[in-house]
Amino acid sequence: LDVNIELPKSSEAATQRVKISIYFATWWALNVVFNIYNKKVLNAYPFPWLTSTLSLATGSLIMLVSWVTRIAEFPKTDLEFWKNLFPVAVAHTIGHVAATVSMSKVAVSFTHIIKSGEPAFSVLVSRFFLGETFPLPVYLSLVPIIGGCALSAATELNFNMTGFMGAMISNLAFVFRNIFSKKGMKGKSVSGMNYYACLSIMSLLILTPFAIAMEGPQMWAVGWQNALSQIGPNFVWWVAAQSIFYHLYNQVSYMSLDEISPLTFSIGNTMKRISVIVSSIIIFQTPVRPINALGAAIAILGTFIYSQSKQ
Ligand code: 3PG
Repeated sequence: LDVNIELPKSSEAATQRVKISIYFATWWALNVVFNIYNKKVLNAYPFPWLTSTLSLATGSLIMLVSWVTRIAEFPKTDLEFWKNLFPVAVAHTIGHVAATVSMSKVAVSFTHIIKSGEPAFSVLVSRFFLGETFPLPVYLSLVPIIGGCALSAATELNFNMTGFMGAMISNLAFVFRNIFSKKGMKGKSVSGMNYYACLSIMSLLILTPFAIAMEGPQMWAVGWQNALSQIGPNFVWWVAAQSIFYHLYNQVSYMSLDEISPLTFSIGNTMKRISVIVSSIIIFQTPVRPINALGAAIAILGTFIYSQSKQ
């Protein structure tokens, strides 16, 4: 018996809301776990170029196995697809390694406070590189974003220039990644999950030689022995956890990008940062001055005003 039940519009909308809530909750939870293990690893093993490479390698391996075992459908791609993916992969690689270098130098919360300034970069890049203009409220929302980030940076107890610049470079690189991604995913036949998988593989190929040049196997081996003797065998699980969770949270974020508008995506990303900032401050007992927290709150509020103004 073939019964075709049409859901009433309101229940369709409710189902969609539940679906998006599940995506968001999963994305944030995976991201919080990634950030905690990533910082635990970096504290014991300060080699951000290698840990960034391992995250991409693990994601690539997970997807290769999923394709071979047919858990995931193999993506149908052509040369044009990979050509369009290249600039996205360059930007993804720079943004990823810069954020990891930042987190190796400063508190996770500080990196994410600076990263909450990403919309400001998005507006400035769109304005000066693409000639796009925005309504006045959008520009005005940049005042609390930039002001809040600046206040937070100026009052950060453990300020470090490399940590600050890493987060800023990551912001800039991810804005370019998003612009190029939009172009690359337009009219695509590749799903969000497979798009991110191909991105991981290409980024891994780009990053590996730079990681070897910047740090190198000799330093990695000595550091690994130190970390193992300091932490014990659990250290290996920490590395595995940061790599696996990095892939999973990015995969879920690209899957949700398939379902939601870029605007909803950016609101979700900001909410994600709040959960990361709060949880990492609690877990790592990061000292925070009230003025520093005020800067973060102003920046995040600015991001919300930005999202509303763009709408
Ligand atoms: C990374 O290592 O790529 C960053 O932690 C990514 O940060 P984001 O996904 O929160 O922007």
